[in-house]
Amino acid sequence: MNLDIFENYAELSDKASDRMIRQLIDNPFSLFCLATGDTPRLTYEMFVDKVKTRGIDSSGMFLIGLDEWIGVRPQTSGACCRYLRECIIGPLSLDDSRVLLFDGVAVSELNECSKMNALIEEKGGIDFTVAGIGMNGHIGFNEPGTSPNAVAHVTVLDELTRRVGQKYFSDMVRLMTGITVGLKQVMESRQLIVMANGERKAPVIKRMLGEKINERFPASLIRNHPTAMLMIDREAARLLENGVV
Ligand code: PGA
Repeated sequence: MNLDIFENYAELSDKASDRMIRQLIDNPFSLFCLATGDTPRLTYEMFVDKVKTRGIDSSGMFLIGLDEWIGVRPQTSGACCRYLRECIIGPLSLDDSRVLLFDGVAVSELNECSKMNALIEEKGGIDFTVAGIGMNGHIGFNEPGTSPNAVAHVTVLDELTRRVGQKYFSDMVRLMTGITVGLKQVMESRQLIVMANGERKAPVIKRMLGEKINERFPASLIRNHPTAMLMIDREAARLLENGVV
């Protein structure tokens, strides 16, 4: 894993979107696995903008959603699938046949996992993952304690994830379980960028880089990824000295 520290959120998002663009140009049929949340919002906006203004063909890319809240309807603001539809799938007019998103209200959650696992396997693994980091160190909904061998699975959400997750919803929702692409699939992703911005993520970054690599803090596992980029802004790097803990 490499670490890059940027002046601010705009610069971080600009550079992260450049990496997505590079991936798309190098392999127009790339399988992208994309997180939602506040962190990558501007990256996706810039990505879409660059695709359009540079006339890049995005019709071959395949998009999967990293995770979803179980019990949340797709139309609800705060649903991860709605976010990806509004930020990327809609603006790029990606065909439904090139998208797989978890359905948080599917009859069978296990079937949702199976479909995702089968697709990732069929495509020979994920080409490019964009992830944020939760306040508890989660990657997607791979909560503390998740096995590094996990593939797509349903998980009971950590108390902190439930509490912090309310920020995405205009009304109070009951967040209990989630569904996520597994750590193993994220770690096997050929390219992986993990982003964090803002002061509130500073203690998370300090732990991610400072603690022994361990399952209790899933983000720490990213340090073992050969090509991962940890991209953060100055505020998130506030507790590091010269880029190290
Ligand atoms: P955030 O969420 O981007 O809204 O901070 C990150 C995460 O929980 O993975």
